[in-house]
Amino acid sequence: MCGIFGYIGTKQNAPTIVLEGLKRLEYRGYDSWGIAAVPQQKTSHKTEIIVKKQTGKIGNATIDDMPPSSFAFGHTRWATHGGITEQNAHPHLDCSNTISVIHNGIIENYETLKRDLIKKGHIFASETDTEVAAHLIEEYIKTMPFDKAVRKAFNMFEGFNAIIAISSIEQKFVAVRNGSPLVIGVGNNEHVLASDASAILPHTSEVHFLQDGEMAVIQDEKMSLYEAKTGKHIDPTIQRLSWSISQAEKGTYPHYMIKEIHEQPEILATIAEHSVSDVKKLAAIIASSYGGYMIGCGSAAYACLAGTYLFSKIAKRHMNWAIGSEFSYQQDFLTKKSLVIALSQSGETMDTLEAVKQAKAKGALIVALVNVMGSTLYREADHAILLSAGPEKGVASTKAFTAKLAHLILLATALADDPDRGTALVKKAALAVNSLLKKRSLERIEAIAEGIEKKEHIYVIGRGLSYPASLETALKIKEVSYIHAEGLPAGELKHGPLALVEQGTPCIAFLPNDETYSANLAGAMEMKARGGHIIGVSYKKHELFDTYIHVDDAEEATIIPQVVVGQILGYHLAVIRGFDPDMPRNLAKSVTVK
Ligand code: AGP
Repeated sequence: MCGIFGYIGTKQNAPTIVLEGLKRLEYRGYDSWGIAAVPQQKTSHKTEIIVKKQTGKIGNATIDDMPPSSFAFGHTRWATHGGITEQNAHPHLDCSNTISVIHNGIIENYETLKRDLIKKGHIFASETDTEVAAHLIEEYIKTMPFDKAVRKAFNMFEGFNAIIAISSIEQKFVAVRNGSPLVIGVGNNEHVLASDASAILPHTSEVHFLQDGEMAVIQDEKMSLYEAKTGKHIDPTIQRLSWSISQAEKGTYPHYMIKEIHEQPEILATIAEHSVSDVKKLAAIIASSYGGYMIGCGSAAYACLAGTYLFSKIAKRHMNWAIGSEFSYQQDFLTKKSLVIALSQSGETMDTLEAVKQAKAKGALIVALVNVMGSTLYREADHAILLSAGPEKGVASTKAFTAKLAHLILLATALADDPDRGTALVKKAALAVNSLLKKRSLERIEAIAEGIEKKEHIYVIGRGLSYPASLETALKIKEVSYIHAEGLPAGELKHGPLALVEQGTPCIAFLPNDETYSANLAGAMEMKARGGHIIGVSYKKHELFDTYIHVDDAEEATIIPQVVVGQILGYHLAVIRGFDPDMPRNLAKSVTVK
């Protein structure tokens, strides 16, 4: 979703600072960008805000043509209302060019507001809902100060939004949010605002996570916080980010995705060593709950599905799961005794947040496994565990996904009163991933990618825990290489999908050293008999395999190295096919709209 970055302080190169900030937010996915700056006040008359905006990626664009300024903000837009055009790119201006607005979210009642403003003589330059905010504020400042005008306008909006508005007359930043994330970095005589904390790291580690219904007013290096509804003053809660700058940068890797794939062994080993106490508390909550549901979207949903197998196999405990966007159609039976465990890397996925909100309304206890401290889910949950995967910037989730699996393994073994086994399993998985990341193994997987990169369809089969591994592998392949890939429970082949297998169709078969091995091998044989090209992912070779990827046996944790095979394969398919795996078309890192 959209990226927001703003600077107000003593440095005179605010446009450059903002451009660098937007570049650190590119991973969120966007199709246009823009920067607005308030030129240094040389005269007393109204200083017009200077705006530069373009469609496409920032790339090597420069902003040498922008004036010196200590007060600027910028935006990367992922189009929702209005096409991908320069006019629709943010920032947007009012009629006087002294108010500018950037926005994340959807103003659901913008048409009504726009109609009224046009009647009052406002001229609109774009098709966006965002521009309505600039003109509404312009209307209100006729009778009140800028920050009150922003607050009044914001309270008129329906939907989930984060707005930053600047006034060149009052030399003020006003930021307000309801549902879309905004973080304020507090530096030395300067403030930095961003839609996610990792972009703030080069400036400061001291941050305030703006909460829903909070409004920040920043002027002359001072930040004041208010309740957006009432205007009541509130004190900021300054937190220190534990991430380092290097964690949030690519370093020597060509892409965030491959960097984050390589970080997994160390992250898994750290989780194995340091997460047991957090997990034990959570296990006690699960044990005392009456029925539980795991919910998430995309990869997080597949982690939930894996969780149901892990809780059953290891803890002999039944746990339901649901895709976040589907959960609202299944939660009528929830009671005050129910438990909902929400899984999310970003903690801002609207489909997951909506489901959690509905579950909370029914009195269910909310637990979150989330990677971003201060995120909406992190704050809304009754109990939250940080995944400790570090900032994940590749749109395709990798290390956060395996971190979810590691925590679920620790949870399930803690529920079974055998936490040491959980630690041992996750450590075993870390070693198995480490082996996969050795040069020979990487080259083998890259060669397999070269052999199938022109195929139209790829099928992935598994059973038991290898079934969610199949779904996640297919998602990695499709979302970065754009090849149609489908994960299937092997037992379902005969019930339909086998009809799709033709001569040479790539069929990836997960064959771990567990009770599913023989039945899954039978599924692979059925595909081979119809011409399928079998890529066996297993702890041992088999004559059935046309190509073989070795994965060390890590017992129930084998799902972790299995999905890492999918991550590496997806990454190489994308690169070989000439795509940027970090910023796949049409997708965003955090889906903060419904
Ligand atoms: C995973 O590779 C995708 N980027 C996507 O499915 C993602 O897992 C999903 O949008 C959920 O995101 P979250 O974990 O931040 O909630």
